[in-house]
Amino acid sequence: MSSIFDKNDIANKIDTVSSLAELEKLRVYYLGKKGLLTLEMKSLSSMPIQEKKEKGKKLNLIKTFFENELLKKKDSIANSIINELVKKEKVDVTLPARDYQSGKIHPISQSLYKIIDIFSSMGFAVESGPDIESDFNNFTALNIPSHHPAREMQDTFYIESSIEEEEKVLRTHTSPVQVRTMLDTKPPIRIIVPGRTYRSDSDATHTPMFHQVEGLLIDESSTMAHLKGCLVDFLKEFFEINDLQYRFRPSYFPFTEPSAEMDVAFTKDNNLIKIGEGDQWLEILGCGMVNPRVLQNCKIDSNKYQGFAFGMGIERLSMLKYGITDMRGFFDSDFKWLNHYGSNPLDISSSSGI
Ligand code: PHE
Repeated sequence: MSSIFDKNDIANKIDTVSSLAELEKLRVYYLGKKGLLTLEMKSLSSMPIQEKKEKGKKLNLIKTFFENELLKKKDSIANSIINELVKKEKVDVTLPARDYQSGKIHPISQSLYKIIDIFSSMGFAVESGPDIESDFNNFTALNIPSHHPAREMQDTFYIESSIEEEEKVLRTHTSPVQVRTMLDTKPPIRIIVPGRTYRSDSDATHTPMFHQVEGLLIDESSTMAHLKGCLVDFLKEFFEINDLQYRFRPSYFPFTEPSAEMDVAFTKDNNLIKIGEGDQWLEILGCGMVNPRVLQNCKIDSNKYQGFAFGMGIERLSMLKYGITDMRGFFDSDFKWLNHYGSNPLDISSSSGI
């Protein structure tokens, strides 16, 4: 029978072990709470002093020996595990590099950043309002009473309401935020309102939901000339065309008087629209001096205050800026489309316009 002091025996036992789990079992066998060496150590306490000294010394030596052998074995097992892994996990340097996809900024967001940027630099604050509007804010306060033919200009989505409730609509333009702002704040007012708008219309140049930016400036002295200057400056900067050809055409909106539409010149080359010059005109926005009736509806003294307003479609602006021909693409979430027309988020100059 082997003695527990037999170093060869211990070394042999450790030698036959081939896994960390088995090694742990062996450790417990000798040094666990009820391990052979542990029990021997415990038994020392009841021994006469001389015997205790001698046996204690022997036990310590064998314990140290066991622990050292154990550590060596542990290292060698860990090494062979790593070696196995290294053998298996070969790096194939001939493989092509992994492709990566970076996201793109949607052209609507891109235009929006730019629009906000330009108007902010002219001192306009950004306002917002809800998509579901009261009939009053969307129409009546803007001088479009019920049964007024101007309501036909916009195919409205009406929202079901009980008889006592005021009629609600999906706002057909961002102009109701003019009303909200004028009812809430005292002039001077200088705001733009980017946001979603809705009309029951769908073809290559119309989608039932689209985006507009409204502009409103109210003070004591601003005129049509300021309106023109402001819009021309904006468009030149937005399209990055210094000698942009444009014209203002008289028009009609119930909430502005006089009213105008602004056109920019363009040419069509191989079905591609080139904007800025040419002999064709493209309508780009509506504008005018705020109708005094609207000021009165919004509790602003129309003898003291005046100002201008404008509204434009962000899709239309984006289509022209980025050469997009079908408006429906904006909302298809087609990855290829986004990849093509979207802009690189890391390109600071194009993502923020700053
Ligand atoms: N609200 C008008 C539209 O949607 C645009 C507009 C805004 C015109 C402000 C004049 C002044 O067509």
